Amino acid sequence: MKIAIIGQGYVGLTISAFASKHHDVIGFDNNTITVENLNAGKSHIEGVDSSEIKRAIDFGSFRATSNGADLSDAEIVVIAVPTPLTKDRKPDLTFIESACKSIGENLNNSALIINESTSFPGTVRNYIKPLVEKYSKQPLNHLYAISPERVDPGRVDWDQKNTPRLYAGLTPEASAKTREFYSTFCDNLIEVSSPEVAEAAKLFENTFRQVNIALVNEFAQISHALGISIHETLDAANTKPYGFMKFNPSSGVGGHCIPVDPTYLAFVASQKGVPATFIERANEVNLEMPKYIVSRVQSDNGGSLKGKKVQVIGVAYKPNVADTRETPAELVIEELVNRGAEVTWHDPVVKTWQGSNSTDLGGSDIAIVVTLHEVMNTSEVTASAPYVFDTTGKLSGVQGL
Ligand SMILES: NC(=O)c1ccc[n+]([C@@H]2O[C@H](COP(=O)([O-])OP(=O)(O)OC[C@H]3O[C@@H](n4cnc5c(N)ncnc54)[C@H](O)[C@@H]3O)[C@@H](O)[C@H]2O)c1
Repeated sequence: MKIAIIGQGYVGLTISAFASKHHDVIGFDNNTITVENLNAGKSHIEGVDSSEIKRAIDFGSFRATSNGADLSDAEIVVIAVPTPLTKDRKPDLTFIESACKSIGENLNNSALIINESTSFPGTVRNYIKPLVEKYSKQPLNHLYAISPERVDPGRVDWDQKNTPRLYAGLTPEASAKTREFYSTFCDNLIEVSSPEVAEAAKLFENTFRQVNIALVNEFAQISHALGISIHETLDAANTKPYGFMKFNPSSGVGGHCIPVDPTYLAFVASQKGVPATFIERANEVNLEMPKYIVSRVQSDNGGSLKGKKVQVIGVAYKPNVADTRETPAELVIEELVNRGAEVTWHDPVVKTWQGSNSTDLGGSDIAIVVTLHEVMNTSEVTASAPYVFDTTGKLSGVQGL
């Protein structure tokens, strides 16, 4: 089949890599540098090896493009563009709209249009379908479906093949074609009764994580006040074989999903006049963690951080990826700077971030470990400063959550 995938980021490129083993794939992205690199066989995403891209290009089953005309004869179009929040924390569907414009203006035949971007229930039915129709130059009978993406970049045990995939079409024909497409590279497909159920399930999955992370972050503060180890307590609770799932405390949540998706759910809840109090409070607790951590560091260091050299170790939002979107490290650094500290950062995976470079490990009075990548040597990190505060729970013999 001829597949066009709109957006070649974490989600779109991952799908391109899997789909191009079975189909002819056009990877459409409006970032021309991404397109150039991909056509040169260079992947920019953890979990998608450059060799996979090269092989698909050499085999003739993958090509990246910024030219909308290349979408014209696609049989299936997958949308994988960002769905962030606006400045006033409302769903921002402008990327979805521009993807729909490219699809509408360029498709010359009827196709199946599948959304993989995360959004609120009703997005496929009330936004994507009307927008594609609005921009189409000719009346075409497209089919529409949703299959929310569950990829966890950098993860190797759960991938596109073995992670169960939800899907639903606006019509039975759209559902059947969606199943046919994904079954070429995914082993476990689960049809739900409407696109809205699939869209809501995706939001609830990430809300579940956001709320539980906030809960354990609050518990970290309670445990410290009680003078008990949170990690030993969590391990003890985790011996219960049912009804408990262990989450670890941290400096907060980052990435494109957990800090964002629950707010999409809160948005539709507020439109329906239903309170989303757990989501709002969980957001607050997670956003307050950097302040809590810096306050702990300050009180352990004579009550003032003025003039102290502090190195923040690990600025990616999670281990083993270079993704710094919504990273809590940013808030930790902001809080340290506000209290007069001289801050540097070290991250061998990220290397450059916000116009500055990763510094060599060490040379500071205080180190705060936000993210511990596998390439970091834990003994070196532990010995990198006279005082080390670990937010990851992975270092022993230092202060921390
Ligand atoms: N990253 C994840 O782990 C993950 C997991 C599950 C779901 N999602 C969801 O998938 C969607 C995509 O996320 P991502 O992490 O892949 O984003 P990303 O930022 O990594 O990639 C998006 C790509 O889309 C391109 N783009 C933006 N607008 C475009 C347009 N109109 N036409 C063509 N290309 C366009 C960008 O240049 C970029 O390369 C979001 O809705 C996100 O919430 C992400």
